[in-house]
Parts: sequence; structure tokens; C-alpha cells
Amino acid sequence: GSRVGGNVGTAAFTPVAPNIEDNVVTAAEFRHNVVIRWGDPVEADAPAFDVNRQTPEAQAKQFGYNNDYVGVLPLDGRRALLVTNHEYTDEYLMFPTGTHDAATIKRIALAAHGMAVVAIERGSKPGSWVRSDHRKSRYNRRITAHTEFTVSGPAAGHDLLKTDLDPSGARILGTLNNCAGGTTPWGTVLSGEENFNQYFDASAAPDPALVPAYARYGLRTTQGLSSRAWSEVDERFDLARHPQEPHRFGWVVELDPMDPTSTPVKHTMLGRFKHEGANVTVAANGHVVAYMGDDERGDYIYKFVSRDTYRADSSAASRRHNMALLSAGTLYVARYTGDGSADGIHDGTGVWIPLTSDTESFVPGMSVAEVLVFTRLAADKVGPTKMDRPEDVEPNPVNGRIYAALTNNSRRGTAFAADEANPITESHVRDELGGPLVKKAGNRNGYVLEMTEDGGDHTATTFTWDLFLVCGDPQAPETYFGGYDKTKVSMISCPDNVAFDAVGNLWISTDGAKLGSHDGLFRVPVDGPERGNVQQFLTVPVGAETCGPLITEDQLSVFIAVQHPGETDGASFENQSSTWPHTDGFPRPSIAVAYRG
Ligand code: FEO
Ligand code: CA
Ligand code: CA
Ligand code: CA
Repeated sequence: GSRVGGNVGTAAFTPVAPNIEDNVVTAAEFRHNVVIRWGDPVEADAPAFDVNRQTPEAQAKQFGYNNDYVGVLPLDGRRALLVTNHEYTDEYLMFPTGTHDAATIKRIALAAHGMAVVAIERGSKPGSWVRSDHRKSRYNRRITAHTEFTVSGPAAGHDLLKTDLDPSGARILGTLNNCAGGTTPWGTVLSGEENFNQYFDASAAPDPALVPAYARYGLRTTQGLSSRAWSEVDERFDLARHPQEPHRFGWVVELDPMDPTSTPVKHTMLGRFKHEGANVTVAANGHVVAYMGDDERGDYIYKFVSRDTYRADSSAASRRHNMALLSAGTLYVARYTGDGSADGIHDGTGVWIPLTSDTESFVPGMSVAEVLVFTRLAADKVGPTKMDRPEDVEPNPVNGRIYAALTNNSRRGTAFAADEANPITESHVRDELGGPLVKKAGNRNGYVLEMTEDGGDHTATTFTWDLFLVCGDPQAPETYFGGYDKTKVSMISCPDNVAFDAVGNLWISTDGAKLGSHDGLFRVPVDGPERGNVQQFLTVPVGAETCGPLITEDQLSVFIAVQHPGETDGASFENQSSTWPHTDGFPRPSIAVAYRG
């Protein structure tokens, strides 16, 4: 065939029609290949994958389960490092019935969480990528629930982080439920610890003094075991024995993939909540700014502004300096005020409310460390806006505005009162492809929120905002597509991750779409006459969510993480609803890359 290639940001494509195929279906002008699957070897001495004989030791060297965030860091023109999160496990889909005892399954699951660094290289077609020979890469590495982390920022070593097993409060084993993330200007990867609460059990009633904070974070408040019951193989997960262990999760972590011997870091300065991810930009005045969402119904959007400024040169000293930028500065939470809906647009002004600097708490009655460890409780005291599940929050490198995916909130209008930033209390969904639209209570299809910092300054404390997209079927009256002609756009539901190409188009991936079609990936211009023209770029297999996404710097490739294929009601290893990527008869979460073909 001819060598086509082409810029994925500017290429015209035919939008993918809604479908329920058990495959990655790209726009017809594109093709794709799978880069790496759950179980493929990562570390140099990783054994071959054998689902019937899987062991914790093998899994700790192989690609983990449920890949989520995707980073691609170029090494040279031909090679790069793929850095991924492994958010969680679906044990019921992973193991043939009766092949593994319960304790072994728990230990494999612990090893299948975390992150991976994988050397990749260009494939035979322009824009295609394949994994390199793992035996020859000095970078390949797995991070698991057992990998040692250091702790940075004001809460490092604080009493609240100490446990019987770590009296220093500064040496934490493992990272859990790593959802989205971001690649920093200094070439490291940030990863958000999201729903860490689910991993903890309580062999006895938890300490009453800690119960209110446990409750705010969704941790267990009474005696009992989670369905994972990890405390049966690792006592750290028993709140009765190690009541402060959950304080050591819920952070943004930073990994330097360029140094395979580096110890990853948990950054306390960025606060503790259910971190979707973190995206860093360098403001015009040199301070770095991280935007972050807390993914829970009615939770908040945050930003961090560094005390020190970025050094752009690539010396080792400057890189060390930059890697400390997230350890000191000011943490803010957002409040959104509407200007009234009579103007026909959901929009208004906003303010970033300071919670704490590295030296001074701005929340009465709470110390700096308490604000950082119990950030949700601190934010509750200053009146931020309760949002419809903030997922990815990311600045657009072309127009400087910030885009936040607010995935949905079925309880908006009931448990949570509507406001102009969260206005939808009734929305239209579809139970199956081709079926009728049905009205349901709440915001079922989500929004994309657009923010403009005053003066275009990312360190500003005031901003304006609007809902760029009110997602759904464009035939539904509540939907809005940036002012674009709704008869011409693709339907979209439940935005989760966002990314940008070099011309500033927004790419949106979805999770849990409620319009009868599978989840997928969309491209939409945010400026000019095409602003709001949402076009579906690809769909993912049965039961899967689209994660990543990432447009490579050369604009030739779109990476996606296909997470939890086959995750449907009633499925089991012997009764799978998906067999994607169609190599083994059972599903394997995998990274894929799409390119002009
Ligand atoms: Fe793991 Fe908020 O999605
Ligand atoms: Ca308005
Ligand atoms: Ca999600
Ligand atoms: Ca997510």
C-alpha cells in the first residue's frame, strides 16, 4: 500500500456512525493497531502471559489491567516511552473459574494495579506504533501496589501520614486507582489516585474520631470487608489495624520515566481527594499551574499555583528544580457564579478560593497539613460549587482556555440543587441503539465546561466560564454544541478525558455513554466557524470505556486506552460479552493507536 499518513488535527474524516460492534471502529479514513495488551511482557525478564497459570510475580513484570491514562514521551524520532495507568481490576473477567485460589487472585490484582513504562517504536505505516523488544529496553518498568514512593510537600512526614509500618510518614508502598494524568513540561508523568476508598476493609469498627473524615471520602465507617478483601493478604488495608493508611492514598503522584531507577513521588501540596488527574501548564509569569478535578457527584474543581518559577533549560539542575515545583505553592478551589440564563447561555464568572499555601492555611481551624490531608473537608468550609463529577481538567495550549469534562450526575435536581454551571435536571437517554429518547431525572449526559482566566493569566484568581457543550443527542432540547448547528453534529454522552491537537481542537473520550451506542472518541473545534462541530472519530468494543486519549507531538497518531472491554452485567470468564482484541477468546484491556491509513 501507499504510505499515506497525515495530520490528525486537520484531516477531514467521515464521522463514525453510532454502533455496538465488538471492535475499535475508526473513521473510514483511519486505521489502527493494538500496541500492548494486559499481560504482555514489560520488564526485561517478564514471563510469557498464560491466563491459566498467572502468578503475582509474573503480573508484576507484565502490562497491568484496565489501562487508563496514556502519555507518550519521545526518545528520538523513531522511539518513545509509553506511560500508562492501570486503574483497577475486573477479577470476574480475568481468571477462568477454578484455576486460581482466592488469595492468589488478590495478589495478582495488587500487581495488576499501578502504572507501566513501555518502550515503543514506529511501525511500518506513518503514524503507527508497536512495542519494542522488552528484553532490550532499559526503561521498561512496572509500578504496582507494592512499589515504594517518597512523599513531598508540607504534609510529608506529618503525624497524619504515619502508620505502624511506616513511622516516618514519608515512605508509602504503592499507588492505587490511577485514573487520568498529565505529562509535565519537564518530561515527567503525573497520575491521579482516584477511588482509593474501595480497597479498605475494617476487621472491627473504625476509630470514631476518624469516622467523619472516612465518610467524606467514601471509606468504610463500620466493620466489614469490601468485595476485594485485600486485607486478607495485606494488613495495610485493614482500617482497624492501620487507621491512617488511607491518608497515604488519594494523591497526585509523579513518575520520572526517563530514570528507570527513580523513586516515584506523592505530592501532598496538590491536596487529597479522588483525583481524576492533573494537567500542568507554565503561566506567562513562569509559575506552573496544575488543574485538577475531584470525581464525585457534587465535588469540586481545584488548581495549584507554584511558589517558584519554571526553568526552561534542560540542565540536570534545572530539571531537579522543576521536579520540586509541585511541592510548594497555593492550592485553590473553584466557585462558579451564573449571570442568569435569560441570555440563553449557561455562563458567568468565577473565583479561585485559596485553601492553603505551603506555609499558611486559609481555612479557619485547620492547619496546612490538615487542609492537604482532608482537602474535601477544608473545601466544604469555603463555599465552592458542587459540580457534576469533575473528570479531566486541561488547559488548551492554543487558546489558553481550560476545558473540564463534567461526566454526569443523576442526582442533579434532587440531592443537588441546580445552578447555572450545573443547570440540567432532566435529560434524554436511549436504552438501545435505534430506540426512542426517554426523559430521565438528572444530568445523564454531562457537560464540557470552558474557563478563561482573567487577563489570560493562569495564576489569576478570577475567571469567566461557559458550558461549551451540554452533551446528549442533539435532538434533545437541553443539548448545546457551542452554538453550532445541531443537525450536523455527532451525539455525545458522558465526557471523561480530554486532549488537544496542535491546532487546538478538543478531543473528548467518553465513559458510560447513555444513547445506545458504544463509548468513543470525538474531535471538536473550539474556535472559529466550526466551534462546536462535534464529530465522532472512533468507537470502542462492548463494555469498554475510551481512555487516554493522546495526540502525538508530530500529529500523526491518536493513542487510546481501551479500558474494561467486556465489563457488562452478568459477564464472567466463561461467558464474556467481549473478546476484543480477539486474540485469546477473552477480553484484554489494551492500548491502541489510530492513524491515517
Ligand atoms: Fe476513573 Fe473519574 O474516572
Ligand atoms: Ca447566562
Ligand atoms: Ca469515568
Ligand atoms: Ca476517567
